[in-house]
Amino acid sequence: MQKILLFGDPGIDDSLAIIYGLLHPNIDIVGIVTSYGNVSQEQTEQNAAYLLSLAGREDIPLISGAKYPLSGESVTFYPEIHGPEGLGPIRPPDNIVPNIVNFDEVFTIIERYENELIIVDVGRSSSLAIAFILGGDIMNKVKAFYLMGGAFLVPGNVTAKAEANFHGDPIATNLVVERGRNVTIIPLNVTNEAIATPEVINYISRMSDNPFAPLIEPIFDYYFEAYKKNVPGIQGAPLHDVVTLSAIVNPTMLEYTSRRVTIELFGKTKGESIADFRPTPDLEPFPTLDRIGMQLNYQLFMQDFVNIMTR
Ligand code: BDR
Ligand code: CA
Repeated sequence: MQKILLFGDPGIDDSLAIIYGLLHPNIDIVGIVTSYGNVSQEQTEQNAAYLLSLAGREDIPLISGAKYPLSGESVTFYPEIHGPEGLGPIRPPDNIVPNIVNFDEVFTIIERYENELIIVDVGRSSSLAIAFILGGDIMNKVKAFYLMGGAFLVPGNVTAKAEANFHGDPIATNLVVERGRNVTIIPLNVTNEAIATPEVINYISRMSDNPFAPLIEPIFDYYFEAYKKNVPGIQGAPLHDVVTLSAIVNPTMLEYTSRRVTIELFGKTKGESIADFRPTPDLEPFPTLDRIGMQLNYQLFMQDFVNIMTR
């Protein structure tokens, strides 16, 4: 079973990723770090706690992450896409008591699963960057990092060229892609293709009798309505964060290329992800190459998603 420490901002697609991870027989989520992003950090924490309580997995530690980016700038939330509380029309009950542990638990988990653990970040990179800043060499004990973010040679989703996660804290993302060992980036190039249609979601809802079943359709419908307003003619909604987790346990699902990645920090180009895609790119003396997902095998992704969500 692949041990995964998940950083995210649930959020609808983050929540679907958490559900997918909790149901997957080859994934062992060993901790969740919740940060600001789709909604506030307090709310993402509450949403993650709700999902864990539905699964009866309150044993999984919840770690409070960043409330704003490293730059200290104020943050914009996305209730129009993810709902006022981040779960579309669903409001997590007030009586959930999250199993919150100190941020140091990140390092305890990394040491416990030395060279085995994969860190997946499907939100702004702020909390993960803080782990690098505080943890130093401990971070070399992580086997690999998977980040959802960026848009390479395709349009962005917050500005013409920038994607939301990398735009949210580009200082943090640069730090992570430079210092992280074995970084894989899962950008909009592939996640925009990972479209779930209302028919598929309806099928999953009808076929599932897991504790998450009543949630799936209402949260997806809210998310899909938002996408319909922004992308005329779209037939479903993209499961950005699910693809990122799914890529780990389905290694042939994506085609990758390795490039040096940097993120633009300021001004109109803030958050744009830059890589040199020429066949022989210019390399600096000691470049850090990151693996970038370029092409998705949709059939494989969707079959696996349906299989797991109907368990
Ligand atoms: C990413 O931004 C967030 O809104 C989603 O949860 C996803 O992680 C897509 O750009
Ligand atoms: Ca997310």
